[in-house]
Amino acid sequence: MSELTVKAEKLDAGDELAAKRTEFVLDGPEGAVYLDGNSLGALPVAVPGRVADVVGRQWGEMRIRSWTESGWWTAPERIGDRIAPLVGAAAGQIVVGDSTSVNVFKALVGAVRLAQENDPGRDEILVDATTFPTDGYIAGSAARMTGCALRPVEPSEAPGALGERTAAVLLNHVDYRTGRLHDLPSLTAAVHAAGAYAVWDLCHSAGALPVGLDEHGVDLAVGCTYKYLNGGPGSPAYLYVRADLQDRFDSPLPGWNSHAEPFGMRSDYTPAEGAVRGRVGTPDILSMLALEAALEVWDGVTVEAVRAKSLALTDFFLECVGEYVPEGRVECLTPLPHEERGSQVALRCADAGPVMQRLIGRGVVGDFRHPDVLRFGFTPLYVGFADVERAARVLAEELG
Ligand SMILES: Cc1ncc(COP(=O)(O)O)c(C=O)c1O
Repeated sequence: MSELTVKAEKLDAGDELAAKRTEFVLDGPEGAVYLDGNSLGALPVAVPGRVADVVGRQWGEMRIRSWTESGWWTAPERIGDRIAPLVGAAAGQIVVGDSTSVNVFKALVGAVRLAQENDPGRDEILVDATTFPTDGYIAGSAARMTGCALRPVEPSEAPGALGERTAAVLLNHVDYRTGRLHDLPSLTAAVHAAGAYAVWDLCHSAGALPVGLDEHGVDLAVGCTYKYLNGGPGSPAYLYVRADLQDRFDSPLPGWNSHAEPFGMRSDYTPAEGAVRGRVGTPDILSMLALEAALEVWDGVTVEAVRAKSLALTDFFLECVGEYVPEGRVECLTPLPHEERGSQVALRCADAGPVMQRLIGRGVVGDFRHPDVLRFGFTPLYVGFADVERAARVLAEELG
């Protein structure tokens, strides 16, 4: 047994979240190590039975009665309230539905409208220059629609780019490629000091580390539920609108579900109060209720415990990579300071594509991001320290 195998055993023995692993289906090739939960979270054990009930009984037997009797109609707000503590939000501010892309559009146009309401001269949107592409595309379209100019900036340089013309700023809490964690409290404060509105994309942080939306006064936020929240492929995303902004939130996608009187079937639009205002059309109930079942794994878990384990996992992975992989063979893109690190490690090497193919063939599942990045995501609820040691060892063998 190597020193690092012994250390992994010790760390696993002291892991207070270790038992959570049994709440997930992690079958597959023998000994597979799943380090791709930052792309698609693993299946929680409770989900298949719940989906079978929703389909067989709620839809199959109760049919249309389920909109009221099975709580389908209110699911977007109810599940929003279930996600709220995971991102540091009080109840009544999050609604679940649509994709992250669609919610980025709602949030960003909504933020610009808030800014322009009092100051029509605000005609600039700042967007994270390193963002996941969809946010950049949507920000470009939102800018055209609202008569704004779009200015891509590195998140750390956003404070210097802010000014009287800034309407809204769209940033990622954790960078999808490098795993860099941006400083949400200070960047939000800088945006506010300039009189603008901050919109945060939480796709790679929610469920992996504390976000503190209310504490830091974030204006609007969006996130997906299929990564660290394990909601399943294409599970609905969510939209946060801070309570004191909800009355002024003017959604660019007003639908009958966000109407104050959805069954009034009126031709004129009166927005509903509260988080409901972020809804659009009929919710995707099958996916949404699968997500609700998936969120039960959070019972009895604190985000702080998850963060502590996440950092221990990424620290240990970096230690093992340092020990096993020949120096200079990979370059670590993920920052080493804890306050700048999300829950993934990104390693750059020229042959990352074929290397990841071989890793997956050997049961170590991470992913490849064009053109040269190996990404390894660490989901504290089901990844253990022995997994980490094995992943680094197999990686070293494949890197030669
Ligand atoms: C940071 C980030 N934003 C937005 C998206 C887009 O999400 P969706 O495809 O669900 O709209 C993703 C998808 O992975 C993402 O990682």
